[in-house]
Amino acid sequence: MIVQEQLPMVAVPSMNDTHLEEMIIVNRLESAARSGDIQSVEKILQEFHEHSIEHFTSEETLMKESGFPAFHVHKAEHDRHLHELEALRKYFDTNRDTKAIVAYLDGNLVKWIIHHIQTMDTVSAMHIQTHLNS
Ligand SMILES: [Fe+2]
Repeated sequence: MIVQEQLPMVAVPSMNDTHLEEMIIVNRLESAARSGDIQSVEKILQEFHEHSIEHFTSEETLMKESGFPAFHVHKAEHDRHLHELEALRKYFDTNRDTKAIVAYLDGNLVKWIIHHIQTMDTVSAMHIQTHLNS
């Protein structure tokens, strides 16, 4: 489970709101996976995937509008993560393995989310905040 205190705050409030929504979805996914609830895991994985696409698109729009110089580096990381999510959904559709979802969350996803916010999102948000609000 991710607790709110683990989520680094960035300089753009709407991005923080989105990260909080993401945290809630990920925690729901973890509970469903830990209880072996295949139907819920499938539904929440889809919801998480759709939320991630919207989440990244809105960050990318803000980066573009503010002329963020490392746009492509940040977008490449979003794209990599979306491909990983697609692969995970395909794997789950075939194998129905809720334990693999728990392992992915524990071993990879939660660390990635926190690290991504701490690094790329923090830097991008500082740029966005200075260049769009002045
Ligand atoms: Fe990001």
